Amino acid sequence: MAGERSFIAILIKRLLLGGFAAVVLLILTRFVFHFPPVFQAMFVLYAGLGTVTFILLDAPAVSPFGGVKALVALVVFYAVLAGTFIAGANFLPQYDPMVEKGKIDKIVKPKLAATDKGKMDALLKRSVELNAQSQAIMKRLEALGGADKLKAAEGDKGGGGDAPKAAAGDLIGLGKEQYDLQECYNCHKIGGKGSVKKRGPTMDNIGNLMKPEEMKEKITNPRSWMAEGFEKEYNKKQMPDKYKELMTDQEIDVLVAYLASLKDASVETPKPIKK
Ligand code: HEC
Repeated sequence: MAGERSFIAILIKRLLLGGFAAVVLLILTRFVFHFPPVFQAMFVLYAGLGTVTFILLDAPAVSPFGGVKALVALVVFYAVLAGTFIAGANFLPQYDPMVEKGKIDKIVKPKLAATDKGKMDALLKRSVELNAQSQAIMKRLEALGGADKLKAAEGDKGGGGDAPKAAAGDLIGLGKEQYDLQECYNCHKIGGKGSVKKRGPTMDNIGNLMKPEEMKEKITNPRSWMAEGFEKEYNKKQMPDKYKELMTDQEIDVLVAYLASLKDASVETPKPIKK
């Protein structure tokens, strides 16, 4: 009894010390060293781990036992340990390598462009070309009477003028180029291709589900829309929020034109929900 009581006293003392250490570590990591929140949490967890270790060291000895009882005790001990680690790991934030790559790109790309002048000139030239191309296409589209005609031209496989078909094809081709360039296929599937790990929704029928301006909204601000059934991915912010910086307005417009042309109703495409 006396042993038990003194252990309880030690327990309280250790818990108080551990709590004190946790608070000191939190203050140091947050206000003195300005560590990111993850590391602040880790140091507090270390304080907890240390407290538990010291409590165990002072715990009253258990009388030895063997046989089945020892085996069961061992298994339970490992189960508790493994459970604690799995729960702990789940509690810490999970990182998606693609998202991290995007963040690094965002930092590195402008620097690279600034130092590597030749590359920047090439990019500039390319964007001037693209601009001219898309403007020529827009003129042709306007002459044809706008987007409705474009849709009609798409459906019109036989006969009719070649010009509208070519214009629509150019625009969509450029958009497909952007889709590949920006690596949307890493997370999305079109025509059964892409997203091996099934991170994001299939988009074969997205042209029937979203208006062009809504797609533009989603690309420039992934928080604006959520695909039905992808709550978890949406909450984890899996779709990168970088295209607004990486793409010009025109590049986004042709990409949207490509997506708007995807109207295969036979492939199930998650419904977009306005957020
Ligand atoms: C790292 C993965 C990832 C990349 C890369 C990515 N997306 Fe997404 N995207 C998602 C996820 C996950 C969702 C579903 C959750 C949500 O709506 O945020 C989604 C949803 C969408 C939706 C809504 C689909 C629907 O059915 O409602 C559109 C449209 C879309 N993305 C377009 C694009 C385009 C265009 C690109 C390339 C410029 C792109 N995404 C790149 C992960 C990604």
